[in-house]
Amino acid sequence: MSVDITLINKLLAAQNIMVLTGAGISKESGLSTFRDSDGYWAQYDPTKLASLDGFLADPLLVWKWYYERKQKAIAANPNAGHLSLVEMERLFKNFHLFTQNVDNLHRRAGSVNLYELHGNIFHSHCLNCGIKYNDDFVITDKVPICDICGGMIRPSVVWFGEQLPSDILKVAFEYANKCDVFFTIGTSSEVYPAAQLPFIAKDKGAFIIEINPNPTSFSPTADLSIRNPASEALTEIIHLYKQVRGI
Ligand code: OAD
Repeated sequence: MSVDITLINKLLAAQNIMVLTGAGISKESGLSTFRDSDGYWAQYDPTKLASLDGFLADPLLVWKWYYERKQKAIAANPNAGHLSLVEMERLFKNFHLFTQNVDNLHRRAGSVNLYELHGNIFHSHCLNCGIKYNDDFVITDKVPICDICGGMIRPSVVWFGEQLPSDILKVAFEYANKCDVFFTIGTSSEVYPAAQLPFIAKDKGAFIIEINPNPTSFSPTADLSIRNPASEALTEIIHLYKQVRGI
């Protein structure tokens, strides 16, 4: 593994550490990614399942897919990758974790400085009046309907063509601009604006570490590419860091 003293020295000197995660960090919890050969988009059409037009065309199809994913997320447990990021939050003063994942596993692991860029599969809201539901809907043959206005309820996730929550995006750009170390973990770096964050950090002089068993379009820009699963790489980084600090 390419974890060495250069990275540890960067971590020792860092004032602000930023992390961006994607579906790959939850793969070792048994959840599917999107763009791997066994990922969702190899089987399903994202325009049908992850867009407002797709939802309006067939809301039950979309709800069934999210319901199934929610059941899988409930059955899954955070893995050593998620837990390592919780430990890093304890070890480093200014540590901020941004995720594209909607599976709730970072929160369940115990991450607190956590920003969900693409929403959360366990929340939903009315398409018509916007009222929020912390749902426990069981989806069989009906789309959930709003108690207040009778509108269709939708999952509170960001679909293709939709804006990310502006408050979270603002914070993400702010941290990308000021961090000294940036980790991009388990993401193919294909979906913007999330994929732009490490480029911003790099432009501002941050040291960028990519953790991904496979190369991505971001890899040539990374200062260090660790080609191992997230759980192994993060465990090793923490181990070495603690060894050097004698803790
Ligand atoms: P992708 O499926 O595009 O990428 C997952 C990445 O994880 C790939 O580059 C894999 O090589 C890597 N990977 C696989 N196993 C890994 C492991 N054990 N450790 C580390 N990395 C591993 O998923 P995202 O980049 O998260 O949006 O996709 C971004 C967005 O596109 C998602 O939020 C979703 C999707 O369409 C919407 O649904 C709107």
